[in-house]
Amino acid sequence: MGKPRVFVARVIPDAGLDRIRDFCDATIWQDELPPPREVLLRETRDADGLVSLLTDRIDPELMDACPRLRVVSNMAVGFDNIDIPAATARGILAGNTPGVLTETTSDFAFALLMAAARRIVEGVDYVRAGRWQTWGPMLLMGADVHHATLGLVGLGRIGAEMAKRAKGFDMRVLYYDVVRREDLEASLGLTYAPLNDVLRQADFVSVHTPLTPDTRHLINRERLGLMKPTTILINTSRGPVVETDALVEALRTGRIAGAALDVTDPEPLPADHPLVSLPNCIVVPHIASASAATRGKMAEIAANNLIAGLKGEPLPAGLNNDAVGNGRNALPREW
Ligand code: GLV
Repeated sequence: MGKPRVFVARVIPDAGLDRIRDFCDATIWQDELPPPREVLLRETRDADGLVSLLTDRIDPELMDACPRLRVVSNMAVGFDNIDIPAATARGILAGNTPGVLTETTSDFAFALLMAAARRIVEGVDYVRAGRWQTWGPMLLMGADVHHATLGLVGLGRIGAEMAKRAKGFDMRVLYYDVVRREDLEASLGLTYAPLNDVLRQADFVSVHTPLTPDTRHLINRERLGLMKPTTILINTSRGPVVETDALVEALRTGRIAGAALDVTDPEPLPADHPLVSLPNCIVVPHIASASAATRGKMAEIAANNLIAGLKGEPLPAGLNNDAVGNGRNALPREW
């Protein structure tokens, strides 16, 4: 009996890769950059399974070009790069890596909030540039975090963890979500408000929504215009939830005080992009879940999802387990 053939679109931690190598005949893309589209199509053409990253677009073209493909295992919690209805229609199972990165990502979102509020990156730049001459009574004054108002846009797993961290700093926490969470309002002391009210009142706005057609450009020019001139925006969700040009304008004109971004649109952001050089904007390269332990756990879940899908079983973290036994997933297995 042969082993299933799989393509792994980047080197991922051994916690996942070792299992994948044991169970599968795996081709692993070694480059630091994602496989170019034509390489992804070529390498997946005869594959039974694919481990994808959020940089790989998994669309109907790819699914049809890869007729053996039964499972796509995304090593990320976000899955806006995968056309799930198209996968389900073909009987291709898809999975993501929720849960294990929740706290790590919210730790990082809070770190960005603190860094922007207290101007830590500007301070580091100042010292590195040899400009530190004395203790200055007016030097690099920032905004207090404690007792400020945090506005959460999206109260899923990561948003709720962000709220917990904020409570440790005695912050008042408002949130908006399409689903009202009265359980969390009670247990964490949160206040629900319509989106525009959250934006009007918050000293810090932190975005925690998935990217969907409804959330693309949710934070647009008009909504940035509702924020206070002292507000700082934090985005650790997906870049296109914030309208980039409108954000550049809001930061340049002082419409809002600052931004701290783990995700951008486009990604990567070119080094000469205005968001990179604006002193009131911090940009880091989409690393909110990047602790060694968490990336190991994500790789493990990605491997478990892949192998379950290859066996025709529901994925432990499945996005469309209703595809089990349907379409090409119902074809006989050779392993
Ligand atoms: C990272 O952005 C993820 O979705 O896991």
